[in-house]
Amino acid sequence: MTSRREFFKGAGAAAASPLTLASQTTEATHADGTPEQIHLTWGEDPSQTVFVSWASPAQAVNARVILEHPGATPSVIHAIQRNYTDGLNGQTVFTYHAKIDHLTPDASYRYSVTADNDSHLRNPFTATFRTAPRGRAPFRWTSYGDLATPNTAWVLSSPQSRHAVDAVERFEPLFHLLNGDLCYANLNLAAQPAVWAEFGNNVQRSAAHRPWMPCPGNHEIEFCNGEQGLTSYLTRYSLPDNGTQFPGRWYRFKVGSALFISLAADDVIYQDSGAFLAGPEPLTPAPSTGNAPIEPGTSLYIRGYSAGAQTRWLEETLAAAKQDQGIDWIIVQMHQDAMSSAHRGNGCDKGIRETWLPLFDRYGVDLVLCGHDHDYERSWPVRGCNHDVGRDAATGTTVDTCQPRPVLTTEPAGGRFDTNHGTIHLILGGGGTSAPLDVYGVNPQSGLPQAKVITKPNRPVPGPTPGVFVKAGADAVEDAIWSARRDTATGYGVAVFDLDPGVADGKTSITMRYYHAVGADRSPTSDYDLFDTVVLAKDRRDKKS
Ligand SMILES: [Fe+2]
Ligand SMILES: [Fe+2]
Repeated sequence: MTSRREFFKGAGAAAASPLTLASQTTEATHADGTPEQIHLTWGEDPSQTVFVSWASPAQAVNARVILEHPGATPSVIHAIQRNYTDGLNGQTVFTYHAKIDHLTPDASYRYSVTADNDSHLRNPFTATFRTAPRGRAPFRWTSYGDLATPNTAWVLSSPQSRHAVDAVERFEPLFHLLNGDLCYANLNLAAQPAVWAEFGNNVQRSAAHRPWMPCPGNHEIEFCNGEQGLTSYLTRYSLPDNGTQFPGRWYRFKVGSALFISLAADDVIYQDSGAFLAGPEPLTPAPSTGNAPIEPGTSLYIRGYSAGAQTRWLEETLAAAKQDQGIDWIIVQMHQDAMSSAHRGNGCDKGIRETWLPLFDRYGVDLVLCGHDHDYERSWPVRGCNHDVGRDAATGTTVDTCQPRPVLTTEPAGGRFDTNHGTIHLILGGGGTSAPLDVYGVNPQSGLPQAKVITKPNRPVPGPTPGVFVKAGADAVEDAIWSARRDTATGYGVAVFDLDPGVADGKTSITMRYYHAVGADRSPTSDYDLFDTVVLAKDRRDKKS
């Protein structure tokens, strides 16, 4: 019989820690239904629906949530089980999802999570959460992406991801937007479920108390785990339904006077950045999976998978928001970037610029929150684009990068941006990976900011080492005329947003404060200090003109 150690022998450096995996598998045979990786998400209406989700080492018996009501008998909500078997190592993962509905808006609840085979059955995990307010009410949310896990045994993980979770908890937001690249399981081919588990147990300290709303990043795309490689991600999260044949990838929800739209940018980007096997050895999945060996040079490139369904849904969503007098603000989260001038990072993707930026312009999206490059960058408000102003990175010939056009390039009078005139993009990729990217591009001629732009697919090609494949970086460059602020002190931080609904016939505002963790590039730190403050202000939609 092939041992686990043997079957990963071809996976190269990425096949870390098969022994860790083996010990977890043994544990699973004891039918331990103890809840772990407990996290909350919003349902379609965050003022009355919350999902409680978790996993357990083995199949849970009678998995359930007990919800307490002040002055009334607690109610029991039975969870549904969703499981999947990892297509590479053959480990089966059991997850549980309880939909808690008909809640009171803007109210606190206490809940417990348990099962008949919970080893803490007498003293089960207990936490509290708060539902969203209805109508025009103040609230706070936070965001970053690219979190990873605190366990440095895993590729791209860093202890900073523990501090990053604590930072969210310190700011006590109503909810957190986790903008993709959750844990980089797909860089740890032999142990993807174990990486997810460490991620889930790390974020539980916050996500069990307030919803963490994710979007898929390129590192959620895994070999042999579904058509888009998203089976692990989709199994672990319950998210608002989008009414299409692609549930869980993109969704929307409304809190107060803000509409939040979460997108799956791998559907539109040119960049090939999902699971990739460089070689030279093929990767042989565990025999129990029945999956064929993956040959060197294979990458999971999923651009266009929804055949336009996501973009049609986005346009319908934005058009409906335009008609809704109760929506003052539209905030988008996605993982990849329309505008990023990180020097060593991925850069900008023309796919987003071509497909979604015209819709953001037409329907007046206020804010776009991204990650992917592990740093902080803020754009000026942008509308429309300049054509044929980029250059091919290799030849210098003209390339149309669809360079976004800033509507102003100085701080506005009174220090408040009116995003009716342009959309502000933020790169918030400083969750907690081990790879900060806070070095930024400079045009060697002018000394002004310069960005890399991906304008065509960078599919794997044979590299200098025989049998080993490589993928090219961005193929073009442009002047980053849209770049307003870049954090050169550290790649790590968290953005905190406070929405003030204002008063009738007045203005509403969002204040964004970005706190960065100086020194975290060298050693992990729990100190997050204020780096950048931006105020967005505009007339309320219910203003009588
Ligand atoms: Fe990342
Ligand atoms: Fe990424």
